[in-house]
Amino acid sequence: MVGEREFRVVLLGLPGAGKGTQGKLLQQTLGIPTISTGDMLREAMNSGSELGRMARSYMQKGELVPDSVIVRMVEETIGSERCAKGFILDGFPRTYEQAKALDGVLEAWGKTLTKVLYFNLPEEEAVRRISGRMACKSCQRMYHNLFNPPPTSGRCECGAELGIREDDKEETVRKRVVVYRSQTLPLLEYYGQKEILCAIDASPTIENVQKEALKALCANA
Ligand code: AP5
Repeated sequence: MVGEREFRVVLLGLPGAGKGTQGKLLQQTLGIPTISTGDMLREAMNSGSELGRMARSYMQKGELVPDSVIVRMVEETIGSERCAKGFILDGFPRTYEQAKALDGVLEAWGKTLTKVLYFNLPEEEAVRRISGRMACKSCQRMYHNLFNPPPTSGRCECGAELGIREDDKEETVRKRVVVYRSQTLPLLEYYGQKEILCAIDASPTIENVQKEALKALCANA
C-alpha cells in the first residue's frame, strides 16, 4: 500500500516482457502481494500434485491451462486475508473468459480493478530476454545472464540454486507468443474500453521501467 490507498492491479505483456520482475518489485514498494499464476502452477508441478501434473501437460507445450482451473485458483487466493488490502496479478487474466470472471468476482465484493499495466516490448527482445533467464528454485526471483546477473554464478541472493524453466525452450517460447497474440492481446481492447489500461515502454532498464510503473499507478492517487 502507498498511504491508505488500495491497489488491485493487473500486469499484461508478452512472455519475457518483465511482468514477473516488475511484479516482485511492486510488491516490495506497495506492500501488497503479487499473485503469479505461472509461479503457482510451477509450485504445484514441483510438489507433484494432481494440479501440477495436469498443468505440466499444457505448460510444456506452451498452451494455456484451462480457464476453470485458473479462475478457481485465483479466486481463492485474492479472497484470502493477505489480499484484503489489494493485490498485483501477474499472468492473469490471459483470456476474455478469465477477464470476465475476474470482473464478476470483484463486482460481487463491491470492488473494481485500479489499473492494468501493459508492458510493451518488441517480440524479438522478449524472446532474447527469455533465452538468458534463470529463476531461483526457492524464492522464484528472476535473473538474466547478461541484463540482471546473480551475485554468485548459479545462485540466488537467498542462497538457493538457480534453474531454467521447462517452458523456456525456444520452440515453446514461440508457441507461447502465438498463444499470447491470439488469446491475451484482445484484453488490451477490453481494458482500454474500461479506461484503466496504461501502456509502459518495457525496453529501458529494470529500474526505469519500475519508475514508470509506479508513476502510472500513483497518478491520480
Ligand atoms: P507465466 O509464468 O505467467 O509466463 P509468461 O507470461 O509467459 O511470462 P514470463 O514469466 O515468461 O515472462 P515475464 O513477463 O514475467 O518476464 P520476466 O520478468 O521473467 O506462464 C507460464 C505458463 O503457465 C503459461 O504458458 C501457461 O501454460 C500457464 N499459465 C500461467 N498463467 C495462466 C493463466 N492465467 N491461464 C492459463 N494458463 C496460465 O523477465 C524475463 C527476463 O528478462 C528475466 O531474465 C529478467 O531478469 C529480464 N528482464 C526483465 N526486465 C528487464 C529489463 N527491463 N531489461 C533487461 N532485462 C529484463
